[in-house]
Amino acid sequence: APPPACTLVIFGATGDLTHRLLMPALYNLGHWGLLPKDFSVIGVSRSEMSSEEFRRDLSETVRGFITAKGGEAGGGAFDEGVWTDLVERVHYRSGDLSKADSFAALKGAIAEVSGREDGGNVLFYLAVAAGLFGPTIAKLGEAGLVEEGEDRWRRVIIEKPFGHDLPSAERLDADILTVLSEDQIFRIDHFLGKETVQNIMAFRFGNGLFEPLWNRDHIDHVQITVAETVGVEGRGKFYEATGALRDMVPNHLFQLYTLVAMEPPISFEAEAVRDKKEEVLLATPSARVEDTVRGRYTAGTVQGKAVKDYREEPDVAEHSGTETFVALKLGIDNWRWAGVPFYLRTGKAMARRDTEIAIRFKQAPLSLFKGTNVREDVPNWLVLQLQPDEGISLQFGAKIPGPAVRLGSVDMRFCYKDYFKTEPSTGYETLIYDAMIGDPTLFQRADMIEAGWRIVQPILDAAAQGRLETIPYEAGSAGPKEADDLLTGDGRAWRSLEHQT
Ligand code: BG6
Repeated sequence: APPPACTLVIFGATGDLTHRLLMPALYNLGHWGLLPKDFSVIGVSRSEMSSEEFRRDLSETVRGFITAKGGEAGGGAFDEGVWTDLVERVHYRSGDLSKADSFAALKGAIAEVSGREDGGNVLFYLAVAAGLFGPTIAKLGEAGLVEEGEDRWRRVIIEKPFGHDLPSAERLDADILTVLSEDQIFRIDHFLGKETVQNIMAFRFGNGLFEPLWNRDHIDHVQITVAETVGVEGRGKFYEATGALRDMVPNHLFQLYTLVAMEPPISFEAEAVRDKKEEVLLATPSARVEDTVRGRYTAGTVQGKAVKDYREEPDVAEHSGTETFVALKLGIDNWRWAGVPFYLRTGKAMARRDTEIAIRFKQAPLSLFKGTNVREDVPNWLVLQLQPDEGISLQFGAKIPGPAVRLGSVDMRFCYKDYFKTEPSTGYETLIYDAMIGDPTLFQRADMIEAGWRIVQPILDAAAQGRLETIPYEAGSAGPKEADDLLTGDGRAWRSLEHQT
């Protein structure tokens, strides 16, 4: 059902996020009939521009994203009716977020577009630089824009990165919690908008089959990979100050990690789910420097295309020590997982785009086929493939036909697209919709964010103090060899990124 009437205020309205993801997501919601009946968007940015000009710009870019073949947002026909209906409700106000005046003017604009003197329900979206989160929320508070009333809510969506380490995240939480209550804050992690990520819970808790095996008695280890083929894509300035660890691990990879490791929640209520996810983080000892590898890509070829050295990217220091790859080993001190390693890795400019959670089951207790020319190492893998070929596969040993007893590795595979017609989506549709209906299940709570930073803090410290160098790896490879040693030391190996078995 469509959410209740509301106004969506987007700060950072002329930016890439608004054009590339937020507006296409609103278009898709409109297409599915999931926008509020009474709905307006107010875009706010520094540039001077009329609402007309803003609409014109959006019409052009959104149309492009929706029709782009293979694009995330669409790849289909552009429904002019849906767009016209949406864009007519879009307004623009130029504003300087450091000035109280801008917020007073915004208050007037909200009253005007909502047709309500008190402004009604408002969802503020902070699509601005991370440094502006705290100050903007403070200004919203001073302007009385986040006060809720009996028949009006006020909510704020905050993009990542939420802080750049534990102390800064704690400060930011403390600051914004003086203005907002926790249930008004929607901290986004866009991985949670991905259908396949949400499906991890459906797979685990909607089926009786695997859950009995989901523990230290049967699972040898877990590998979580988020490999990207893209480099820094003109984001040198942001990336140089951020690096792969901050950009991906305490947020996106930890989402996958907690979903795969969490205990069954008592219900699918937001707090029940979020509590269980957080427990995983609380039970995870902080990462150890000796169990972490940082890498940085050098020139190479990624899927046939030449890629230049990370250090030659615009806005990247000549002797940059920023990592574009990180691999680490974690463990969870609880009854389910004690002793089971979780290996996590993510990197840019890698051989293949691949986001997967691979669960390696223990070997059979006894090999009955010894001495019969058997491959002793036929592994049992359960792989949740999240990107790009969404699906789930189970790998096991089967007898190779013929008189001799020999085992080969075979694959039982479920592909999303064979079963479901999936609507193209940016991943932001669900998240914006949930924020409008006030369901925080797929958003991060303050304590979860802080627990995530706490785990990686020793690595951030070691990197800052030069105790953990970045090891070069060739663009188009699977990362530095040292990342392999993390597993070989334990008698294990990463699943191949070059070609999947
Ligand atoms: C973003 C990171 O949060 O996630 C990017 O800042 C990264 O560096 C992106 O490329 C990956 O998301 P997706 O949806 O493309 O897998």
